[in-house]
Parts: sequence; structure tokens; C-alpha cells
Amino acid sequence: MRNGSPLKKKIWATAGGKGGTGKTVVTSNMALLLAELGHKVILVDADLGSANLHTCLGVRQPGKTLSDFIFSKDVPLESLAIDTPYQNLKIISGSNDRLSIANMQHAQKTRLLRHIEKLEADYILIDLGAGTNFNVLDFFLRSDMGVLVVMPEPTSIENLYRFIKSAVIRIIKKNLPPEVYKDIKISIDRYGTNQTMDSLIEVIKEKEGVFGYRIKEEIDNFTPKLIVNQIRSSEEAILGPSISEITQKYLGVRLDYIGHVSYDDTVHLAVKNFTPFLLHSPNCKASIEMRVAMKRLLAKNTQ
Ligand SMILES: Nc1ncnc2c1ncn2[C@@H]1O[C@H](COP(=O)(O)OP(=O)(O)OP(=O)(O)O)[C@@H](O)[C@H]1O
Ligand SMILES: [Mg+2]
Repeated sequence: MRNGSPLKKKIWATAGGKGGTGKTVVTSNMALLLAELGHKVILVDADLGSANLHTCLGVRQPGKTLSDFIFSKDVPLESLAIDTPYQNLKIISGSNDRLSIANMQHAQKTRLLRHIEKLEADYILIDLGAGTNFNVLDFFLRSDMGVLVVMPEPTSIENLYRFIKSAVIRIIKKNLPPEVYKDIKISIDRYGTNQTMDSLIEVIKEKEGVFGYRIKEEIDNFTPKLIVNQIRSSEEAILGPSISEITQKYLGVRLDYIGHVSYDDTVHLAVKNFTPFLLHSPNCKASIEMRVAMKRLLAKNTQ
């Protein structure tokens, strides 16, 4: 992840592997909380192909969206940032986009990332959507803080695990000469399941020296944050720490458990009313838990 000082602009990215866990709802409410604190926030809907962040914030489908930037050299990214009904909060929409994030070419992705980094804001929050394709992983790995939203269901946990494992493999691939990676790739799938990822890194260190140490360092710096959303019982509340434990053991990744947000009908109602749930029902359980999670995220932000 990017090394940023606490005073510099911060890029946060939200992902989670599976669809429907609450990534967009959580991201829009996180953005609102940051904006309420007086920070200038830009939300970027990079869930190209299924963008709906604007709807959660009650913004009509904007005329211009990310495609206009991606397919034209004359459309500055900042010109796509439109006002939301909320002070300090702007959005760059991905609605109606002509391509999906999975199909974005390398040059398009690098240019978009470069321009996102140049946007004038205190915080830039990127909603990445579902999936584990290379582009989603690269956006996530380039952020200052990656937030993962999981649901207490085996399918969601499985996809989350796959997402983190894919991110580790992406780090390994990026740091190895292609011919070396080709040899490792054949057996890479058994790591993180039968054997730990740490044991693979040890093998790489032994064989490839400096490349292995670089990979280890990058994986040590990769510390995504975890929010368990839509929990329905106190038993489900202990899921977060267990997921972190398993991730550390098998993937060698420190997954920082931030907290949970309960399943709450008011969240559903808020979405139906095109309003962030923190404003729709400021005192509901989900709102209270979201504020606690945000406090913890901000505390991590300055570490
Ligand atoms: N804490 C919650 N309590 C109740 N319902 C929730 C909660 N979080 C999310 N939902 C419901 O789940 C729906 C999907 O949420 P959201 O669109 O944020 O998921 P997503 O992970 O962004 O999905 P996608 O992968 O399709 O982008 C919401 O419309 C809302 O109705
Ligand atoms: Mg979404």
C-alpha cells in the first residue's frame, strides 16, 4: 500500500470479493462521516459495469462519468466530480459506463490511478465493487487504506479469503522476474491452503534472495481493514477476529479487524430513500456501530 503521511491526502479503497456485502453502503456512509468532520471528500465509483454509489447518495445519474475520462484525453478527472446534497462531499460516478473494471487496459488503469492521486481532496474513497480481477486488486493495493467488507456467510468469507490470497499473489508476481514467477505459478494454489504463504516466501527468499525480502516487506505492509457487515447475532460478532487469525496464519497477512455493523432494516429503508443510513436513522444500531468503526479507522489512519 502507498506510504502516506497523516497530513497528506488519503486514498481509501473498499472491496470484499463477493457482491452484495454492503461495500457501497459502507463506503458512502464512511464518506459522509469524513465530510461531517470537515474533510473535503471525493467518492470515486470504480465499480465500473455496476456503479450505483450515486443512488445511495441521492444523486441523479450524472451526465459525465468515468468513461468520459477513460476514453478521452480532453476530459479532466476533476471536472467529473459533482456535488452531492452533502457539504464537503463530491462524487465521480461510474454509472452507465461503457466498460467494466475487469476490462480496463493497463494504460487506462495507470492513467486513472495517477489522476485519482492528483485530485484535490483530503480523502478520496474508491468503491471497487466485487471480484478479484487484477484491476480491482491493483486499485486496492495502491490505496493508503484498503477496507474489506464481508458478510457472516461462508460464501462471503470464502470470497474474502480468495481476494486476500489473490492480492498476495499479485504482490509476489509484481516483484519477481516473469520467468521466475512462471515456475512458482504452477504450485502457487496449494499455498494459503495446504501450506502457508509464509513457507512459499521462505522458498523465494532462499532461491531469489532480494526479491523474496522485497515481497516479504510488501506483504508485511499490506494490512487491510476488515468490517463485518449485516451481522444478526452476537455469535456472528466474533467472526472478524477468527477471520483475521486464519488470514495471518495461512496467508501471512495482518488483517486488521475494525468492527461489525449489524443487519438493520433501517439500512434497507435508507437505501430505498436514496439517503445514507447515518442521516436516515442517526441513532439506529447500524449508525452507532458505523461511527465506532469510523473512529477506529481514523485511529489506524494516523499510525
Ligand atoms: N447493515 C445492513 N443492514 C441491512 N441491510 C443491509 C446492510 N448493509 C447492506 N444492506 C443491504 O444490502 C444491499 C446491498 O448493499 P450494497 O449495494 O452496499 O452491496 P455491495 O457490496 O456494494 O454490492 P455490489 O457488490 O453489488 O456492489 C443494500 O441495498 C441494503 O439493502
Ligand atoms: Mg456496490
